[in-house]
Amino acid sequence: MFSLHRYRQKLVLLDPSTILVTVTTLLFLFSIIKIFNATTQVSSIRLGDLVVHDTASNIDATTNPSKSNFDLDSNSDDIISGSKSNSKSKSSLSSDTKKLTGSKLLNSQSEAPYQRENATIMTLCRDEDMWDIIKSVRRLEDRFNHKYHYDWVFLNNEEFSDEFKKRLTSLVSGEAKFGVIPREHWSYPDFVDQEKAKEGRERMAQQGIIYAEMESYRHMCRFNSGFFYEHPLMKQYKYYWRVEPDVNFFCDVDYDPFRYLRVNNKLYGFTISIYEFELTIESLWGHVKDFIKKNPQYLDKNNFMDFLSNDGGDSYNLCHFWSNFEIADMDFWRSEAYTKFFNYLDSTGGFFYERWGDAPIHSIGISLFAGRDQIHYFDDIGYNHGVYSMCPIDEQVWLDKKCSCEPNSDFTFRGYSCGQHYFKVTGKKKPDNWKDYADL
Ligand SMILES: *[C@@H]1O[C@H](CO)[C@@H](O)[C@H](O)[C@H]1NC(C)=O
Repeated sequence: MFSLHRYRQKLVLLDPSTILVTVTTLLFLFSIIKIFNATTQVSSIRLGDLVVHDTASNIDATTNPSKSNFDLDSNSDDIISGSKSNSKSKSSLSSDTKKLTGSKLLNSQSEAPYQRENATIMTLCRDEDMWDIIKSVRRLEDRFNHKYHYDWVFLNNEEFSDEFKKRLTSLVSGEAKFGVIPREHWSYPDFVDQEKAKEGRERMAQQGIIYAEMESYRHMCRFNSGFFYEHPLMKQYKYYWRVEPDVNFFCDVDYDPFRYLRVNNKLYGFTISIYEFELTIESLWGHVKDFIKKNPQYLDKNNFMDFLSNDGGDSYNLCHFWSNFEIADMDFWRSEAYTKFFNYLDSTGGFFYERWGDAPIHSIGISLFAGRDQIHYFDDIGYNHGVYSMCPIDEQVWLDKKCSCEPNSDFTFRGYSCGQHYFKVTGKKKPDNWKDYADL
């Protein structure tokens, strides 16, 4: 009580020393407030800058893919491949997906807008596939594309309906584009004898071959083999990810597979490999051998022939990458080697007289005319199409990628898969527990 009283007294008295102390204190407090204000202003400006910048570049990248979005910048390479490696070094070529883990990438995204690759997702389908392709799109957006906003090109041999466009546009986080396939890419070429083609379909139907009687299926396989990458909507891109109706993606794709291909100098990526029905491609290998004999210069010195053939190329073992899933470089399909290869095969009419699938055509082309190290097995992208699935059986991968599939459904080491053969010829190490999920 007493001291308080004295204090009051002092204030009331206002002696010179008290005034000095008070004024100094007030000045001090005032300047602190000023500094604090200034600091918050600066940081809010910075934050605003970032937000505005980010939004602008996103919009720009989505609606108007300008060159800068595709520029290769060494910073992003570092982010992907680890600060030590560079895209041309041997170690980066032989490295695996592990170094592409997403956390670094996503952290960096908040600091600067992500520079997308020159790539698009693509789908060939029809209006009647709408509900099934919607499932695929939603699943891939949730597992991957909502973070990256790649464009999505939808192609059809006729115009998509307005409803199709409206619904799919709302689901795709990049720009959705809808294209019609030019007639010359979806019709009989002059050199094909349509009567002979009809006989071929009837013969194959009697043999009980799936899709034997379908003409449209043959146009589709031919289009996927030799034309999709020439479509005006596809021409502006280098990489594509092919997605079909009602496929499933079981795991988080927490890195950019397009960037993985580019940084590691890969041309083609797959998840499932499988044996082809021999009756659909009876004459194919003979034509392939003829082509190689006439054009030996196209064979890559380091090719992957041993994936295709168990006898040095004499016969085809029917192994191929299941092409309903592909992440690949279209400039390979556009190359002289593959273009001549496709034209040669096409000129035999085999797409129509038999029922050649685009999967063996792509697989043979990439395995012969590219280096074996340029083909990548995406063993961490859990995937399902129809009755076959790829599900990571390595528990750590399953946990890290938050997969939702049953490891027991994994097809890789089952009887009808070429997985065991793939591991044998590449010398890759199988997961330790592979025998638990294998047909031996
Ligand atoms: C994307 O790739 C295609 C095919 O290689 C090329 O024609 C196009 O110029 C590339 N776009 C950019 C922006 O680099």
